[in-house]
Amino acid sequence: MASITIRNLDDEVKELLRRLAAENDRSMEEQARVMIRAAVDGQIGPVGRIDQIEKTLRELTSAHGAAVPANAPAGKRLQHGLSGKRILLIIGGGIAAYKALDLIRRLRERGAAVRVVMTSAAQEFVTTLSVGALSADHVFADLFDRQDEHDVGHIRLSREADLLVVAPATADLMAKLANGHANDLASTVLIATDKPVLMAPAMNPRMWAHPATRRNRATLQKDGIAFVGPAKGEMAESNEAGEGRMAEPLEIVAAIEALLDVGPKPLSGRKIIVTSGPTHEPIDPVRYIANRSSGKQGHAIAAALARLGADVRLVSGPVGIADPAGVKTIHVERAQEMRDAVEQLLPADAAVFVAAVADWRSENSAGEKIKKVAGEGPPVLRMIENPDILAGIGHHSQRPGLVIGFAAETQDLLRNAEAKLRKKGADFIVANDVSQSSGVGPSGVMGGDRNRVRIVSKSGVEEWPEMSKDEVAARLAALIAERLKTIVV
Ligand SMILES: Cc1cc2nc3c(=O)[nH]c(=O)nc-3n(C[C@H](O)[C@H](O)[C@H](O)COP(=O)(O)O)c2cc1C
Repeated sequence: MASITIRNLDDEVKELLRRLAAENDRSMEEQARVMIRAAVDGQIGPVGRIDQIEKTLRELTSAHGAAVPANAPAGKRLQHGLSGKRILLIIGGGIAAYKALDLIRRLRERGAAVRVVMTSAAQEFVTTLSVGALSADHVFADLFDRQDEHDVGHIRLSREADLLVVAPATADLMAKLANGHANDLASTVLIATDKPVLMAPAMNPRMWAHPATRRNRATLQKDGIAFVGPAKGEMAESNEAGEGRMAEPLEIVAAIEALLDVGPKPLSGRKIIVTSGPTHEPIDPVRYIANRSSGKQGHAIAAALARLGADVRLVSGPVGIADPAGVKTIHVERAQEMRDAVEQLLPADAAVFVAAVADWRSENSAGEKIKKVAGEGPPVLRMIENPDILAGIGHHSQRPGLVIGFAAETQDLLRNAEAKLRKKGADFIVANDVSQSSGVGPSGVMGGDRNRVRIVSKSGVEEWPEMSKDEVAARLAALIAERLKTIVV
């Protein structure tokens, strides 16, 4: 089967494709595939046989680019977010080093120049050859390499960057920097820099929980080092799970963008509350009622709003993903705690209620673990209603100018969303079908990475195509920015 070689496209087309890909959080190949699919479906110009596609791509890129007007909302405008920025990426010796390869691609797609330093342990996991091919630059690995030291030098290397990123940041690299060691190129560059440093730790959960690592992290934070992640979840190398998994490349990109403060800021000066994740309603000290919400959509929305300059306060239920960079996160467990946290954050310009809040809780959560008593049968749980946070804020005396709710339904999606809009005093309801039959992703909407939503408002229903949760977040953030333009502070 014929395939498209992006490398062989001419520079202008490649540049357009790179910008579109960055705008849509896709790789260039994915972006090309999406456009070709759209062309085949008749959405943009005709496309002929597969061997004509390279030629047609030029028309497609310009047609797709031109389809976005210059005054389109920020999320839709073509952006080259990290254009002109120089990132020095230090790859440490952990299993997650393979994700650093994708990170290099994502950064370059956004226009950043990426220079890489690898520790000698990192070279056990990925090769300088792959890293050099992806970064399109020489890879620096040895403090005493005469040629490198003569050409660039470790001091220049550490200063000729806008930001240093350590991904994966090993326990060892954290310990070295926290204690001022400089016995290889990576640690020497880190201590010689006068630029901001972002670390994306990745390690076994026990290494992460060790008092020494915790001490080092606290020291580094006090020294002004920024962190993204780690997240909770399955570890790549074993059957272990827990906190220690490196943040995903796009989360690291978002943290970099937030630290470098790039891109338009239509939401600067706006305070926005976002809720995310499930709630846990206790039955006794060890058992609780929960739901399958992962927090991915809510966290992505918080991050997207922060990228547009908003002062975002995220109230998160218990989730296994990292706090988004550039967002103030408040962690809660129960619906009542979430309601209290949200109320304390008022006044705000907007509030987006993405969390899957339990409708009910056990009336009397037991103070001690409920024991199984022979002959007594199972305990009867009496449930009572939890506070309705969306309706409470939608009718609050300090109601934010814009209130958005999410409706996760498994049936009668639109009817339920329209009823919710009326009852809860919301401006929009973002409705998503969370049934297994929604056809979204192999694992469905809840917990998965993709979503298909409809925006229900008084003016009607707008259907958005299936896309990644990050894309939904970017579009919703752009919509919020548009709406807030008409709401005076
Ligand atoms: C298979 C394997 C996987 C490892 N994964 C990690 C890891 O994820 N995080 C970590 O901190 N150390 C990990 N280590 C240990 C580091 O490689 C080791 O501490 C090394 O000295 C780190 O060097 P560096 O900090 O200079 O890159 C791993 C070691 C092996 C053998």
